[in-house]
Amino acid sequence: MRTQVGIVGAGPAGLMLSHLLHLRGVDSVVIDLQTRETIEQTIKAGILEQGTVDLMRQTGVGDRLTRDGFVHHGINLAFGGGMHRINLYELTGGRAVTVYAQHEVLKDLIAKRLADGADIRFGVTDTQVAGLQSEQPTITFQHEGQQHSLECDFIIGADGSRTYTRFQIPQPEVRTDFFRQYPFAWFGILAEAPPSSDELIYAHSGRGFVLISTRSPKVQRLYFQCDPETSVDDWSDDRIWEEFDARLAPSGVSLKTGTIFKKDVLQFRSFVCEPMQHGRLFLAGDAAHTVPPTGAKGLNLAMADVHVLDRALGSYYDVKDSGLLESYTPTVLRRIWRAQHFSWWMTSMLHRFSDATDFDLRRQIAELDMVVNSPSASKLLAENYVGLPLL
Ligand code: PHB
Repeated sequence: MRTQVGIVGAGPAGLMLSHLLHLRGVDSVVIDLQTRETIEQTIKAGILEQGTVDLMRQTGVGDRLTRDGFVHHGINLAFGGGMHRINLYELTGGRAVTVYAQHEVLKDLIAKRLADGADIRFGVTDTQVAGLQSEQPTITFQHEGQQHSLECDFIIGADGSRTYTRFQIPQPEVRTDFFRQYPFAWFGILAEAPPSSDELIYAHSGRGFVLISTRSPKVQRLYFQCDPETSVDDWSDDRIWEEFDARLAPSGVSLKTGTIFKKDVLQFRSFVCEPMQHGRLFLAGDAAHTVPPTGAKGLNLAMADVHVLDRALGSYYDVKDSGLLESYTPTVLRRIWRAQHFSWWMTSMLHRFSDATDFDLRRQIAELDMVVNSPSASKLLAENYVGLPLL
């Protein structure tokens, strides 16, 4: 088999890149370890920045998003006994975020790629890449009991945080990993319940952080900060609602409860590897960097990476100029580190650290107070939350 761009990973980065390349007439093959059903059903985050929404609409995969997504013009910060709204729309000159689940984005991209005749191989095993320093790198894999070898001009590692491709960049000779672990996790639930608020609520409390998010008028997504060792089996529905209530009541938020139909624990880490390329291999999305979920940046960063990569590959194929490919890493790293800082900032401002003293809690409240009452601080949060425009 032969293609121009071999893409490992059918997540947001891999599928969107394949879609963008197709629009400019560049061929790709996408492979993934998981089945289509698993990919289309795995629950992840659900906030799309304006740049992600615009990219999807402008490239013909935004119809369902426009119909079913919910545009939010603000978010709320609850702390110190009250709730405060950040008006994203006014503070950013008309930008907003859209609530639309990641697996819905993936359904849209897969449907469009298949309708456009794409070659996507789901459920592959034994993926290996070779010849990264040559002009003809290859991906080998097993699919439906057969061994395949795919010759490419370029290989894209878009295989998520459990990446195989990242490890093909030699460390420490070439690759440096930057890493931070956090001493907590998020306990997430999906519940059949009416929304408790029109817009998301990020809540600080002495018992730890809570996020009230939504998926639809009938399905709500909520999280509370927990210990990384927490097991979902230790939390009955009643205990979960009591914990939410204990954390939210001091800020005057009253929760609409309902039937919980999914519980999960999300681990927290911040990670970046540099460089994000090696010979003919280029990494995109979580394979190269992960953020804690607090800023809702993960999917959006993946989209921003492939937006740059698509143009760099386009310039290589159109005018045989590899300058944009060579500068891929420094180009995308600037945004990635901005998002790392923002996610870390939101996380540390809102969560309770296990060694936190009363001094630390009051300092956090003072910081939140500044964020909601200083117009320049509110603007800083709003600009970062809705996201920088795509380059
Ligand atoms: C979500 O709805 O899953 C979500 C929303 C906002 C965040 C993180 C996750 O900051």
